[in-house]
Amino acid sequence: MFQRESLSILVLTGLLSLSISLAACGDQPTENVDTLCTTTPLTEGERARIMSLSPLGKVPENPSNKYANDEKAAHFGQYLFFDTGFSANNKVSCATCHEPDKGWGDGLDLSKGVDEVDRHAPTLWNVGYGRWFFWDGRADSLWAQAVGPVEADYEMGSNRLKLLHYIANNAKLKAAYEGVFGTLPDVSDEKRFPKDARPVPDDPGHPHQVAWEQMSKEDQKAANLVFTNVAKAFEAYQRKIVSKEAPFDTFVTGLKGCLDAGSKDGHEDKLKAISEEAIKGMKKFVGSANCIACHNSPNFSDSEFHNIGIGINEDPNRVPADYGRLRGIDAVKQSLFNMMGPFSDITDPDKSPYAAKLRFLQKNDFNAGEFKTPTLRSVDTSAPYMHDGRFKTLKDVLHYYNKLETETDVIGHTEESLRKLNLEENELDEIIAFLKSLTGKALPSSLTTQPASPSK
Ligand code: HEC
Ligand code: HEC
Repeated sequence: MFQRESLSILVLTGLLSLSISLAACGDQPTENVDTLCTTTPLTEGERARIMSLSPLGKVPENPSNKYANDEKAAHFGQYLFFDTGFSANNKVSCATCHEPDKGWGDGLDLSKGVDEVDRHAPTLWNVGYGRWFFWDGRADSLWAQAVGPVEADYEMGSNRLKLLHYIANNAKLKAAYEGVFGTLPDVSDEKRFPKDARPVPDDPGHPHQVAWEQMSKEDQKAANLVFTNVAKAFEAYQRKIVSKEAPFDTFVTGLKGCLDAGSKDGHEDKLKAISEEAIKGMKKFVGSANCIACHNSPNFSDSEFHNIGIGINEDPNRVPADYGRLRGIDAVKQSLFNMMGPFSDITDPDKSPYAAKLRFLQKNDFNAGEFKTPTLRSVDTSAPYMHDGRFKTLKDVLHYYNKLETETDVIGHTEESLRKLNLEENELDEIIAFLKSLTGKALPSSLTTQPASPSK
């Protein structure tokens, strides 16, 4: 008797936990179901999560760059973004690897400038909404990011003194620069301002390092100021690369309108902005597939770092092992160009809430193999995908999330919240249909091409 009772209790608790886990899967509506606005009903929880993803607000302020919203700075930055003239071989500009027509990437798996780079060029869509920059977050602002590619050997292969001379020796560029940032230093004395110089601390014999060391501290500071001002102009421009007003946003507007009015009337068109297939995919995205755990907020990124277990494509002839965020943390803390440093426009970084993210940043072993969560807005424009560009299509990405199988060694510890989706092909297609509904309005050509003149 006693035994039988305990058995039935066991069965009961078993059933109970089964139904709880089904409910947690999200597709089993146990909450109030709304059949008012769409033919595919949404639970209250789904509706709340969907609404948390739209609309995308304004690009957040960045007080470390006082030129962030300066129109003349943005114009100057846009001009230089498309300018190959200060790269080592006169052939590479920012746009070489961040082409507007390729979703602001370059369409390659590993990017190529003066030479092949170890990582894939990320999209610049909505980059102004980011918190950390580069796949490993080794820059804490967009301007601190921009100094990187100019001097990276495989990217533009240039240096801050070459850039300074380039601007100083071109009347139009000089006028444009001075119109925003004030007088350029007089660089005509090449003993004081060599043609090519930059710090290369890990290579003391490098001619750029030798030339840099011969400069006075004051002249070094003047060169760094021009370098960071130009970087701040790059930021001002890139803040305009915004993807919003996607069909998904229209749908959410319709959803809100329908709920407020208590009827579909007048909102049908907006509710039809995305297909029934995309609605099913959306329910998975915010529910059973739990993509929203990391791709959240209206920019579809938590702006943080995760190890999704794709491992490393280590190839001694091609790419080294990539530890991601683990290395990025040391780099951003040590950078002269971070928000706490002398070139930041934050006056009291010890008290600034903007610099707090850096002040409190700590490294731990889990950071190995973590990479930044990319935005998913306009994601179908910027193939291939991931920090090493290993997946050619969105279908490849979804196949990965479906089985979490990788042919290469994994670095570090894969995020536990990530679970195999185990979905059918047509269900993966639903998620892809949803991702495609996140593609926003195209930008006007006045923002995607080089302006005729560097001055506005
Ligand atoms: C040779 C190709 C190449 C060139 C040229 C290049 N980039 Fe990049 N860009 C990349 C790659 C690759 C990454 C990722 C590098 C990493 O994470 O280590 C990147 C990262 C970025 C990021 C970070 C995006 C994010 O979400 O974190 C920004 C912003 C950016 N580049 C802007 C620029 C600007 C501005 C220029 C010109 C001054 C430029 N890039 C020149 C290839 C390039
Ligand atoms: C645990 C956090 C996490 C979850 C959950 C997650 N992602 Fe990601 N996602 C990331 C990170 C981090 C990357 C970049 C990884 C890298 O490059 O190494 C990424 C990359 C991507 C990319 C490539 C974007 C690009 O520009 O390269 C797509 C597409 C994507 N995720 C879609 C999804 C979908 C769809 C889901 C749900 C099935 C999902 N993600 C679940 C964190 C997550």
